[in-house]
Amino acid sequence: MRKSWATCFARFWCAIRAVAGWQAQSGALATRMGDNAVQRFSRPHHHFCAPPMSHLSSPTSSRLPALNTQAVDAPYEDLPADRELVLKVIPMPADANPNGDIFGGWVMAQMDLAGAVLPARHAQGRLVTVAVNEFIFKQPVRVGDILTFLARMVRIGNTSMQVHVSVFSERLSAQGKYVKVTEATMTYVAIDEHGRPRSVPRRTL
Ligand SMILES: CC(C)(COP(=O)(O)OP(=O)(O)OC[C@H]1O[C@@H](n2cnc3c(N)ncnc32)[C@H](O)[C@@H]1OP(=O)(O)O)[C@@H](O)C(=O)NCCC(=O)NCCS
Repeated sequence: MRKSWATCFARFWCAIRAVAGWQAQSGALATRMGDNAVQRFSRPHHHFCAPPMSHLSSPTSSRLPALNTQAVDAPYEDLPADRELVLKVIPMPADANPNGDIFGGWVMAQMDLAGAVLPARHAQGRLVTVAVNEFIFKQPVRVGDILTFLARMVRIGNTSMQVHVSVFSERLSAQGKYVKVTEATMTYVAIDEHGRPRSVPRRTL
């Protein structure tokens, strides 16, 4: 099928504009974030770790503040020895909220996963979260922190298991030192193939 010169030229022009627009947007984004961590991502390894920061490409992105890396911290703590390591994770810029800290909902999702580790091992099968009994955000979590989730089973019932999880942050600028950022108590219930509660082994804690 023959295409007219006008159609070909129009398509070529659209492609050029799309590429140019994308490049301009990427450059503006790196400049706007103005943060050490993000600038580092955008330099030699930008192709490596480009998280899906789709919200930043909207017209409102120029109003987003820089990431929070300078806030004053609580005193450092030793990691408690009587808990089990259940998760380590590093939040990325895509997990940040409009203040530049990490979105609380992201932290809650990680807590739910971390909290399930000991009950899942004890229940040896399916389980669900029935309750978040307490949840405290003590200090902000920041982009690039190394988060350590430590858990301890606090109660084993007939079908339910209650777990306490505490989260410690190693800041980018102070690795090897720990700040307690979050803690929570959650209850999980072991369920059968029909989704009904099932008994779990008894154990003295
Ligand atoms: C969890 C679920 C199976 C419990 O069913 P149920 O018919 O209410 O069961 P029961 O009332 O017998 O309670 C079961 C256990 O949960 C505990 N439980 C129920 N509600 C609770 C609450 N709000 N806080 C703490 N424990 C609770 C009970 O004390 C009981 O523990 P025990 O057997 O050790 O004494 C049901 O409520 C459910 O499917 N909820 C949805 C779960 C879900 O979708 N979670 C999110 C995604 S994982």
